[in-house]
Amino acid sequence: MTQAGLRGDPQRITSLIEEIASISETPAPTGVTRLAYTGLEREAHGCFAGWMTDLGLSVRTDEVGNTIAERPGGTGGRAIGTGSHLDSVPRGGRFDGIAGVVAAAEVARLVVEQDLEHDRPIRFVVFAGEEGARFGQACIGSKAVGGMWTPEALGSVRDSDGVSIAEAMEALDFDPRQVERARWDRDDWAGFIELHVEQGEVLEAQGIAIGIVDLISGSTRFELTVDGRASHTGSTPMSLRADALCAAAELVLLCEEIANDPRHRGTRCTVGKLEVTPGSITTIPGEATLAVDVRDVDSGRQRDTANEVVSRSRDICLRRGVELSARLLSDASPVVLPAWMRDITSGVCKDLEVTYRVMYSGASHDSQMVGHAIPAGMIFVPSRAGLSHVPAEWSSSSDIALGVEVLTRSLLALDVQLTRLGR
Ligand code: HGY
Ligand code: MN
Ligand code: MN
Repeated sequence: MTQAGLRGDPQRITSLIEEIASISETPAPTGVTRLAYTGLEREAHGCFAGWMTDLGLSVRTDEVGNTIAERPGGTGGRAIGTGSHLDSVPRGGRFDGIAGVVAAAEVARLVVEQDLEHDRPIRFVVFAGEEGARFGQACIGSKAVGGMWTPEALGSVRDSDGVSIAEAMEALDFDPRQVERARWDRDDWAGFIELHVEQGEVLEAQGIAIGIVDLISGSTRFELTVDGRASHTGSTPMSLRADALCAAAELVLLCEEIANDPRHRGTRCTVGKLEVTPGSITTIPGEATLAVDVRDVDSGRQRDTANEVVSRSRDICLRRGVELSARLLSDASPVVLPAWMRDITSGVCKDLEVTYRVMYSGASHDSQMVGHAIPAGMIFVPSRAGLSHVPAEWSSSSDIALGVEVLTRSLLALDVQLTRLGR
């Protein structure tokens, strides 16, 4: 088994990333838009499938749109894999998810071109619908892999146009009623490692090449709707108003205040979306809807923050004479990734004399859901200035190329380790 050059090719990495980035609803300078369960996401999956068939690998799409390529191993057994997602947030970056998919494609190329030996099948995966931007629910395809969906649940989660996840799947010829068949079983899968851009500034600030993730933040997301009383801005005295937007403004600052409270140190709480109706300059806002995102690595603090936001929002609305309703969109616990999986990658970094550190992930990821089914690991590469979910998101192809080598060697080491453990 030659392991001569297992470094990814930076030029290829750049061109594959640009190939995917060009599939976007919005022109590149204003950011990439390729939302979950849209034709654009499927076009990007089609690109990946083409890369894999060009290497002679078999490719299939599962019941909910996850694309899975496979290179058989020498002796068979339970598979190992790598991959990430190709959907984006609105006007997002070119690296979130894509870097991990391009890295997986590079691993596949290295393994095939150098005919590297491995016992068990290696699978290269693109998960569908990882971003929560469209449906408020993140990791749709990987939650299916983790056995966390029912057909009924897929029919109950809707986007802002009222389209359910199930309807969006059916529009793309997938069958949400078969979602349980997408689940990965431990008798077929043995481990999964995802490469992702850090989306934070730790690695860059500390001059470290590789992050090895031990803990992925949980997230609780919910909608707060304030119902006030729309009326004429000219003829309604200030003393007779029930202004939904003024109340909502207090709620936005409440989220910031609670997350900055020492009791909640480590929690992140954000209102990323605010819709006001009727939205006319001469009408007092009658209704305001806020989308709240709470993130934390501490499960209890995460839920305590969400509960405190809702209960104190009720007090504010009562005082202001407006109605408040709250609707839970999604709730995912923080996930600890197995130490033995981390140790494989830290061992590779030591052998390569590559700087690394163990760190938590503030963002959520597909590996969080895969980890409910099989052992999962995550490798981070640096993000410039920690920016992500924006057009300025950027990571260098040479950093990603190094990440490819660490990922490739980690998968090969995982193959050997699992065989040695008889798994
Ligand atoms: O929102 C997240 O944390 C991830 O980028 N889906
Ligand atoms: Mn991502
Ligand atoms: Mn993202």
